[in-house]
Amino acid sequence: MNERANAITPEGIDTGTAYGRPAPTYQRELVEVGPGTPMGELLRRYWHPVGLCGDATDTPRKLRVLGEDLILFRDGQGRPGLLYPHCAHRGTSLYYGKVDERGIRCCYHGWLFDVQGHCLEQPCEPEGGRSRGRRRQPWYPVQERYGLIWAYLGPPEKKPVLPRYECLEVLDEGEFLEADDSSIGGGGPQVIPCNWLQHYENLVDPFHVVILHGSFSGTQFVGEMAVMPEVTWETHEIGVRTVSMRSLPDGRRLRRISEAGLPTLRVIPSPRLGRFGRVESLGWVLPIDDHRFRIYVVGRVREAGELSRMRTRMNGKLWEEMSEEEHRLYPNDVEAMVGQGVIPRHSEEHLVTSDRGIVMLRRLLQEQLQAVAEGRDPAGVGFDPAAPPVVFSAGNWLADSEGMGIS
Ligand code: FES
Ligand SMILES: [Fe+2]
Repeated sequence: MNERANAITPEGIDTGTAYGRPAPTYQRELVEVGPGTPMGELLRRYWHPVGLCGDATDTPRKLRVLGEDLILFRDGQGRPGLLYPHCAHRGTSLYYGKVDERGIRCCYHGWLFDVQGHCLEQPCEPEGGRSRGRRRQPWYPVQERYGLIWAYLGPPEKKPVLPRYECLEVLDEGEFLEADDSSIGGGGPQVIPCNWLQHYENLVDPFHVVILHGSFSGTQFVGEMAVMPEVTWETHEIGVRTVSMRSLPDGRRLRRISEAGLPTLRVIPSPRLGRFGRVESLGWVLPIDDHRFRIYVVGRVREAGELSRMRTRMNGKLWEEMSEEEHRLYPNDVEAMVGQGVIPRHSEEHLVTSDRGIVMLRRLLQEQLQAVAEGRDPAGVGFDPAAPPVVFSAGNWLADSEGMGIS
């Protein structure tokens, strides 16, 4: 039956009205991230940043990651721990626990758990709990790198090595690394109320830069970004690369390469063209659950606070300082993405030639889902601690009209 049958008159004229349209649907296998879902299991084969190193302290902190509620803390020996919140005794949340030298103690009856969930004490039991060694609070492995806490929520026997990245390992003179959790690149608040895939796909959509950021809302980055690029995309082993060539009014050519890397990586050189050359920061989109995400960024900087100053401002105002009317007048990524709905409406889309990157990225994700379903490892997971750092080709480069590199 014609999907628009209800909008067609007895004479066969398609009125095009909204009446009778089918309810929108989405590709669940790409969108949903909870335990046991295809994408949830794929994402659980990788490490994800779940906080800044400074978030793990002796004050228990609630986290939500891939649809799971967790408690992050740091014991008195400096070890970060990530535990299932409901105590293995009778379920009280460890959010109300007290952290000590050896772990976290539940408020209700005082059971003490270490960072790997071992139960060390059961103070109400004879001899401190003769069978306490058999109790385990569910836990996840964590590591610290680049100023971030990383967690692995997947099958223990498949735990890969936490990757290193060339652009964060090789620093130029005077540079140091800075980590940020304000969702730079999301164009809005720290927690963005829509599905993660909407943002991940935004990374391979260079045309919205010209319209949304380059003209519709004024100049959100720099004037060069308003020039319509010639775009090509290519899928490589661990991502989709977007190459945008711009002929600038002064005759120079700007080559901009950005990448969406597996599983959630933003490899996006600064759209402000502040520095030319290889990409200066990496971002990771963290799906909080199916309806919210946030972004962690690590970058090479020369001054403290340089990363957070990269957040977009309109008329000098950060997103949270703008009024609703200003958000309506000057939409940014967050308005465009959340405006698509809390979850995508794939059945209502009409993909066109400028969406090729999105088609390629979905295909790459589908291939990884297939790999996991067949018992293979998805691309980008490695088990060799001595493997060289991951290299991306993203960056901004200027060339003169003869194509000679000048930066
Ligand atoms: S519920 Fe945690 S110790 Fe009893
Ligand atoms: Fe954008």
